[in-house]
Amino acid sequence: MSLTITWYGHSTFGIDADGAKLIVDPFLKPHNPVTSVVADDLEADFILVTHGHGDHMADLVALAKRTAAQVISNVEIATWLGRQGVAHAHGMNIGGASTLAFGRVKLTVAHHSSVLPDGTYAGNPNGFLINFNDGHDVYIAGDTALTYDMKLIGDVGGADLAILPIGDYFTMGPDDAVIAAQWIKAKHVIPCHYNTFPRIAVDVDAFARRLAREAGIDCTILAVGQSVAL
Ligand code: NI
Ligand code: MN
Repeated sequence: MSLTITWYGHSTFGIDADGAKLIVDPFLKPHNPVTSVVADDLEADFILVTHGHGDHMADLVALAKRTAAQVISNVEIATWLGRQGVAHAHGMNIGGASTLAFGRVKLTVAHHSSVLPDGTYAGNPNGFLINFNDGHDVYIAGDTALTYDMKLIGDVGGADLAILPIGDYFTMGPDDAVIAAQWIKAKHVIPCHYNTFPRIAVDVDAFARRLAREAGIDCTILAVGQSVAL
C-alpha cells in the first residue's frame, strides 16, 4: 500500500494511489513552460482542480474528455465543465467531503481568487484534504495565502504530506509557508507554484533548510518529472 507522487512542474501533480491515477491541476506543455510532458501522455482516473485559473486547468477539458476521468472540483467549475462536454464532474463545496475509490476527499478553504477562462464565475478556490485508503493524509493547499484555517487541519490530525505553494506574489511565499507547515502539523512538505515564471522565482533550497531548522519538518524538493513514494 503506497502513494507515488510525481511533480509535473508548477501545481501539477500525479498521484498513484494503489493503482488509482489522480492528476491535480493539469497545466502541461505547451502551457506550462517548465514541463516537457504533454497532457496526451498522462492517464487519469480522477482529476482534482483547485480553481479556475489557467495555470491550474489549461489542459483540464481535453484531459478529462480523453480519459473520461472523474473531475473533482467545486460546483461552479463542475457545472461549467458539463457545458464543455465533460461528462463526469463531481461538484462539491468547501467543508464537504466525499468517499471515492481511492479515499475520502474534503474541499478546504483557500484564500485566493478564481474565474474560468471564458469569464464565467468559478466560485471560491479550494484546496483538498485527502485521507487515502492506505492511511496517508495528504493536504493540497491550492493557491492560497497563509490562513488560520490551516490550523484546523493541524487540530484534526495534521497531514502526513502537505503540498504547499511557496512562490510568493500570487500565493503565500516561503516565510508564510514555513508557518503554514507548522499550523498544519505536516510531517513532510513538497513545495510547488514556484520558479515557473520570473515573478515566482524562489530559493527552494533555502526554504527546505528553514523548514528543517525552524520547524523540524522534512521537505522533498522534486525536480520536474521526478517522483517520490510515501
Ligand atoms: Ni490562481
Ligand atoms: Mn496559480
